[in-house]
Amino acid sequence: MLDQHSRVFRRRRYLMCPPTHFDVTYSINPWMDLSKPVDQRLAVTQWEELRNLYVTLGHTVELIDPLPGLPDMVFAANGATVVDGRVLAARFRNAERAAEGPAYTAWFRANGFPEVHESGHVNEGEGDYLVTGRWLLAGSGFRSDPAGHLKAQEFFQRPVVSLTLTDPRYYHLDTALAVLDDDQIMYNPSAFSPGSLAVLRDLFPDALTASDADAAVFGLNAVSDGYNVVLAQAATGLIEQLRTHGFHPIGVDLSELLKAGGGVKCCTLEIRTPFTAGHRTAA
Ligand code: ARG
Repeated sequence: MLDQHSRVFRRRRYLMCPPTHFDVTYSINPWMDLSKPVDQRLAVTQWEELRNLYVTLGHTVELIDPLPGLPDMVFAANGATVVDGRVLAARFRNAERAAEGPAYTAWFRANGFPEVHESGHVNEGEGDYLVTGRWLLAGSGFRSDPAGHLKAQEFFQRPVVSLTLTDPRYYHLDTALAVLDDDQIMYNPSAFSPGSLAVLRDLFPDALTASDADAAVFGLNAVSDGYNVVLAQAATGLIEQLRTHGFHPIGVDLSELLKAGGGVKCCTLEIRTPFTAGHRTAA
């Protein structure tokens, strides 16, 4: 029997996009301030540290070629949602990012994923679709179209929990909520509508909740393998809580990516295949 805080590490397969063309050249969320220059070299160094960390932890990282003229393509999480090897293609709300959808879809087709579905609704991949052991947590309010949530339920054959975001700083679900393991999450209560918050409290009564300060440094934009939780090092309150709950938090600094409103999770698309899902090792 596992005790209350024994965590289960599961090896993951991630897709990332090098920040070769990363910059802030337009503003489509409140973090993107055109007067604040991006240190491109530092962005590359920070991103490489994140990739190397995943490899050191035992995960597989695959890369998609970055395309010129798409400065936000580094945010791979927005490129698709993949469950059981089935790929729901992304469709972006903003014209500035529209060409990223076909680029990510082409990667999946070229890499042996026969089931790629285009839903016809705006959906920004794992930015707004997060996967627990049972549910598909689906965000809307700023980017993804809520009409697409039901389509995603049909496609993945998993129950959808539709959640409404209300704070423009937390415009994607993955900026306000992170899945820690099959049935544990952490989230920012002040980012959700009253109804959505009530649903989260009901479904996840033991969830970790973030302070405004930890949410504002993108502490919830985190990636968990069930044991290691990679998140912004400035999110000290969350780091402490994760430790108390038996997780192994690892702080990283992605200050340059934050200038575009992105963090750890935004840079990381999880490829869930039946094979990786079967790979369980006790931590
Ligand atoms: N500048 C990008 C945008 O506004 C940031 C995307 C962050 N990605 C994420 N998964 N939250 O679309």
